[in-house]
Amino acid sequence: MCGIVGYIGNRNAVPILIEGIKRLEYRGYDSAGIAGISNNNLFCHKSVSKVVFLEEKVSKLDLDTNIGIVHTRWATHGEPSIDNAHPHVDCKGDIAIVHNGIIENYDLLKTHLESDGHVFASETDTEVLAHLIEKFFDIDGDFELAVRNALKHVVGAYGIAVINSKEPDKLIAAKNGSPIVVAIGKDEYFVASDVAPIIEHTKDVVYLDDNEMATITKDGYTTKTIDNVPTSKKVEEVMWDIDMIERDGYDHFMLKEIHEQPVSILNAMRGRFDHGNECLVKLGGLEGHEDVLAKFNRIVIIACGTSWHAGLIGEYMIEAFLRTPVEVEYASEFRYRNPVVDSETLVIAISQSGETADTLAGVKLAKEMHATVLGVCNVVGSSIARESDFGIYLHAGPEIGVASTKAFTSQITALYLLTLYIANLRNVTTLFNCNLVEALKAIPDQVASILKKENEIEALAELYKSSENFLYLGRGYNYPVALEGALKLKEISYIHAEGMPAAEMKHGPIALITKDMPVVFIAIQDAAYQKALGNIREVAARGGKVIAIGTEGDDSLKEKADHVFYIPKTIDMLTPLLSVIPLQLLAYKIAVMRECDVDMPRNLAKSVTVE
Ligand code: M6R
Repeated sequence: MCGIVGYIGNRNAVPILIEGIKRLEYRGYDSAGIAGISNNNLFCHKSVSKVVFLEEKVSKLDLDTNIGIVHTRWATHGEPSIDNAHPHVDCKGDIAIVHNGIIENYDLLKTHLESDGHVFASETDTEVLAHLIEKFFDIDGDFELAVRNALKHVVGAYGIAVINSKEPDKLIAAKNGSPIVVAIGKDEYFVASDVAPIIEHTKDVVYLDDNEMATITKDGYTTKTIDNVPTSKKVEEVMWDIDMIERDGYDHFMLKEIHEQPVSILNAMRGRFDHGNECLVKLGGLEGHEDVLAKFNRIVIIACGTSWHAGLIGEYMIEAFLRTPVEVEYASEFRYRNPVVDSETLVIAISQSGETADTLAGVKLAKEMHATVLGVCNVVGSSIARESDFGIYLHAGPEIGVASTKAFTSQITALYLLTLYIANLRNVTTLFNCNLVEALKAIPDQVASILKKENEIEALAELYKSSENFLYLGRGYNYPVALEGALKLKEISYIHAEGMPAAEMKHGPIALITKDMPVVFIAIQDAAYQKALGNIREVAARGGKVIAIGTEGDDSLKEKADHVFYIPKTIDMLTPLLSVIPLQLLAYKIAVMRECDVDMPRNLAKSVTVE
């Protein structure tokens, strides 16, 4: 949560920072603030709610500075208010800091600092850092040393950027647990929580590691550990382009990302089939680890939210195909329940952002327990990608809408490829592998054909937009899709929705069925089809309204359901890639009709970097 941008160079930092932080707004939008140094004096301005209000405020002030930091907040400690908005400043108003993460021992530090005479203006954990740095700066008069000494006293996670009007030519950034990237321009440098705000200026970046600090001037930068050991960093090139992070004519990023899926699914597969034998999958990130991957007899998948749903599909697929036992765990539970994991276990961590705190902590725990960790991430260079032993990138491009859509279908695609890859390593190759590859290659066009029928979903949304409850039911590979459909509706339209395996309905939830309860059934012609029809009859008999997702050509479904949306035929394993598309669109259309803020739903943020 929370977005950070910092700038030092020859240009006016203010417009660069404001434009930059707008690109990070998906990380939080409770409040925003900016600080810079003008004529050796620190200025700091804040506003509550979205960045646009800060922009409005700042535009009237005619600020000019070559150094500055800016922040957009997702509240953890203290309500969204001007006082609690970042940047936080020290008692003298010289030092300003922006922070992403949580300082766990802030209470203790605050008590000590207050007894030393420091006066606090906010309820946040972050403010202790401003005062701690002030305390050490007062002792040594050395900004870099003061930041280092302050960080040594901190327990918790942080990505920070700090400036000090007493050393106005230095921007200091540090990381432990929360991401910080330093970007290298021509006579100018940027720091940011991720690359979105900087790619319009430069593509050259270095990613800070945990317990690492960068001291940046407009002429260069140095990196050291918090213990003052110099580190050498590899400059990496960001592959994302600016148009990838624009809305490109769509009303919302979510809609754009839904429509990108024919391409993003293709990109997840691109270059990953062997030229000599197209039925064989090659995954560059796993090269050199074939022996390790061939030998596991147990797999644990850890993830959160939508990524967890993708993991469930992975479980069904891997067990069916490889006959290797798989467990799918919420990362937040896994990390705290002393799981049975050892050197014989392969842990697959799935995360779009690669920054989700619980999943990252799960990865670290798995490694401590000697497991091998395979990361499935979208964001290149993200913490989970770097912490994993090896992995698969999704290549889905930036996902900015808070509701995850294209990452889900890319994650499932990556898991199909992984399954096929391990199958080959274990000689579990059959004719079915080739059929699966063929069917997978057809998916992008099939998704495109579904997207052409957006108006059908719009009509359904119109009919059901006022419902206050929804059930989503599916079986087999489409049970996780039911969960995902319900999550999409909940998070962006604020309608209560539950997803469950269709057969579970009669064990309790069927009591909820009335004529006012729309039930979305994924009733495609797969192995579970006949059973799903039985469940539809049970709902219809109790007056429930049935919206069915069916297979093209299944005309008889129309007699059983109130509405049917048809998707093309594919093999059972791949159906989630198609059945989820109408559910994403339904949630989107209903949210728009209810005038909800689709890209910035209330109380949410894109990546959950706190526990
Ligand atoms: O970045 P991650 O994939 O680790 O994020 C996990 C969840 O926070 C995320 O999928 C969340 O559930 C989405 N908002 C769902 O749309």
